[in-house]
Formats: sequence, C-alpha cells, structure tokens
Amino acid sequence: MNGNFTYCNPTKLYFGRDALAGLGKELPKYGKNVLLVYGGGSVKRNGIYDKVVAILKACGKEIYEDGGVMPNPTIEKVKEGVARARAAKADLILAVGGGSVCDYAKAVSVSVFCEEDIWEKYFVRFEDVSCAVVPVGCVLTMVGTGSEMNGGSVITNHAQKLKIGHVFGENVYPKFSILNPEFTFTLPKYQMISGIYDIMSHILEQYFSGTDDNTSDYLAEGLLRSLIHSADIAVEDPLNYEARSNIMWTATWALNTLIAKGKTEDWMVHMLGQAVGAHTDATHGMTLSAVSIPYYRYILPYGVAKFARYAVNVWGVDPAGKSAETVAHEGLDRMQEWMRKIGLVMDLTALGATREMLDGLVDSTLIMDGGYKVLDRQDIRAVFEASF
Ligand code: NZQ
Ligand code: ZN
Repeated sequence: MNGNFTYCNPTKLYFGRDALAGLGKELPKYGKNVLLVYGGGSVKRNGIYDKVVAILKACGKEIYEDGGVMPNPTIEKVKEGVARARAAKADLILAVGGGSVCDYAKAVSVSVFCEEDIWEKYFVRFEDVSCAVVPVGCVLTMVGTGSEMNGGSVITNHAQKLKIGHVFGENVYPKFSILNPEFTFTLPKYQMISGIYDIMSHILEQYFSGTDDNTSDYLAEGLLRSLIHSADIAVEDPLNYEARSNIMWTATWALNTLIAKGKTEDWMVHMLGQAVGAHTDATHGMTLSAVSIPYYRYILPYGVAKFARYAVNVWGVDPAGKSAETVAHEGLDRMQEWMRKIGLVMDLTALGATREMLDGLVDSTLIMDGGYKVLDRQDIRAVFEASF
C-alpha cells in the first residue's frame, strides 16, 4: 500500500428487509424539526413516503416538506431548500430517495448556516465547510451513487453549463442510512441498469491507477465480479431479492472511500459524464456508459498491465500465448459486449447530445490527474468524438 491515509466512515447503516425499523431508533437522537426531502413523487406512489411519515409522527416529529428534488439537482433548488430548512429551523434533514435527493440534502445541510455564495464556495473554489451543518439521514430508494455512505454532493448549474461534485468531509456524511433492497423494486429498468453501471464506473475509477500491489485492487475485483454476477440475474429477474440486495451492498462499498485507500484514483469518466450531464441533463449512469469504452481504449496504452489484469481477473480472459495488449483489449471487448447485453446506452446521440455541442462538452470537462494519462483538451475532444 502506497501513501499515508486515514480511514473513518461515520455513517451507520441499517440493511435488509427490516431496515426501516432503524429509522425509529435513530430519530430520538435529533431535535423535533425534520425537513423531509424527496424527489418527483415515486416515494408517494410506492408507499415509502407513508411508511416514513408514520415513523416520524410516532417519534413526535414536526415534519416540514421539501419535495420535487429533480434528478441531477440544481443550485437554484438547493437555495430553495436552504430557505425551507432555515424557516423550519431544521434539526435533521431526512432524504428519502436516490442519489439526487441525498446529494441535495447534503448541499442544503452545509449551506443553512453559510453566509457566502454557496455555488462559488463549494462548487467553484471547493472550500471546506466553515460553519455548522444540519445532520442528514437517508432512506435510499435508488442504488448506484454511494451517496448513502459518503460525503459526495453533485450539483448542476445550468446557466454555467457545469455539473460539479464536492466531496465533503466526515461531518457531512449521512449520520445514518436505511438500505432496504425491496425499496428499489419499483425502479424502472432504465434506472436500475444505469445505477448498475454507475457502481461499475465508481469501482473502475479507483481501480485504474497506480502500479503497486495494493489490497484495494483485489477488493475492487471482488466487488466487480459480484456486481456482474448479480446484474445478470437482476436484468432477467428484477424482483430477485438476493441479486438486488447484493447490488445495493456493492454500491455502498464501491464509493465509501474504502477501495480508494492507497490509490491516486482516475475519475475522468465521471468528469466526461458530468459534462454530458451539464449539457443534456441525461441520467448519470448512462452518461458514464456512453463515454467509458472510448475513454478506456484511449488510455489503455498507458496502463496495459492493469488493463490486462482486469481482463483476466474480472472478465475471465485466458492470457495464454497472447501479448498483454491483446489480453487488455479482449477484456474491454467483453466489457463492451456485456454493457450492450444488459441494455446500457453506448453512445452520446442516444442521450440527446449532438456534434454541435462538442466545443461546449470539451470546455465543461474538468481534468483530473490521478489516472494512467492526464488528458489535455484535444484528448478530451477525441474521446467525445469516439463516443458519438
Ligand atoms: O424523483 P423521483 O420521482 O423519486 O424518481 C426518481 C428519479 O426520476 C427515480 N426513483 C428513485 N427511486 C425510485 C425511483 N423510481 C421508482 N422507484 C424507486 N424506488 O429514479 C430517478 C433517478 O433518481 P436519482 O436520485 O436522480 O438517481 P441516482 O441515485 O442515480 O442519483 C443521480 C445523482 O447522483 C449524482 C449524479 O451526478 C446525479 O446527480 N452522483 C452522486 C455521487 C455521490 N454522492 O457520491 C457520485 C455519483 O458518481 C454521482 O455523480
Ligand atoms: Zn457516478
């Protein structure tokens, strides 16, 4: 393991069919006023909202509603939430939904007592929180982002054509998260597979870096194999509890900082995907699937050994008598075939992007330097061009 690091994850998880009982155990730890945050209405249609409200009432809480959080939440909506949280004197923000709702809750949490321009402070200057935060709890209904056990908050600014993630510190992680795999059963298939690919991408972003022998990479390979196995089952049989519960648990471990330990991390697929999201508002996981294979083929020459290891350990490619480069490409071939098979979006056109957007997409992409190759603007353009 290279480098020095600390590891601490303060989020308490309640997992399984009975997980919601954990909410009743957690609520007494917080004051009376709860800002109840949710999305566009799925939680009302599938009954999760009613179950949560019943527990809040049984615990004697005053409920202040903040619904209508959109996928890819906007800075305007965050400002609206801050005003609601202030008016409610919220003691707890309870996010009931997917990554968008959880990310939004964190953005509101760090902004309630902040006097500065929150977009500039957190999403342009990437400054730490310098004020009190309102605690956040999550009831997760969509699997993929890992937002239930990390400090990430990704917010979109349509006026500036930017979608930016700030990874906050441990004080902003959800205090608790409720993970009942059955709560994800009503997800449309498109969302389910998008989440599955988001998980895969999170693991790969941390895997494709470094050349040392690192325990984190072995953990990553195990998570990937479990994910592929369970995804194949869930795509055929979406109500398979075993598969859906494994996917849910894998999502959490894919992005709760564990497998990043001792790694530099890549994250360029997410930077490319977030630029696509800023211009099209497309579903997050699909923005990643559309650019991944072109990106990985582009950087493969700079990390051949790792791509070959990935091919063998994750995709079962037989390396006998082949060059490392051939093995590496076979791995990506199998990945591409699998992505098509489960129904992922494989090109930008399907997300509403056009070649006229190329300049804008290139400009909106942040450049990270932890992977096998640091891209410049021309490289980014080449990857986007190959993604149409
Ligand atoms: O809004 P509602 O009506 O609830 O519908 C949602 C939404 O339309 C629906 N949905 C959620 N749970 C459902 C359901 N429909 C039926 N049954 C259920 N049980 O699914 C749609 C998508 O929800 P959303 O929360 O947007 O999806 P996801 O969890 O993928 O979150 C995406 C956001 O998270 C950010 C993304 O950029 C994006 O903004 N990310 C956050 C990260 C983090 N915090 O660490 C990392 C990720 O890389 C990602 O960037
Ligand atoms: Zn993601």
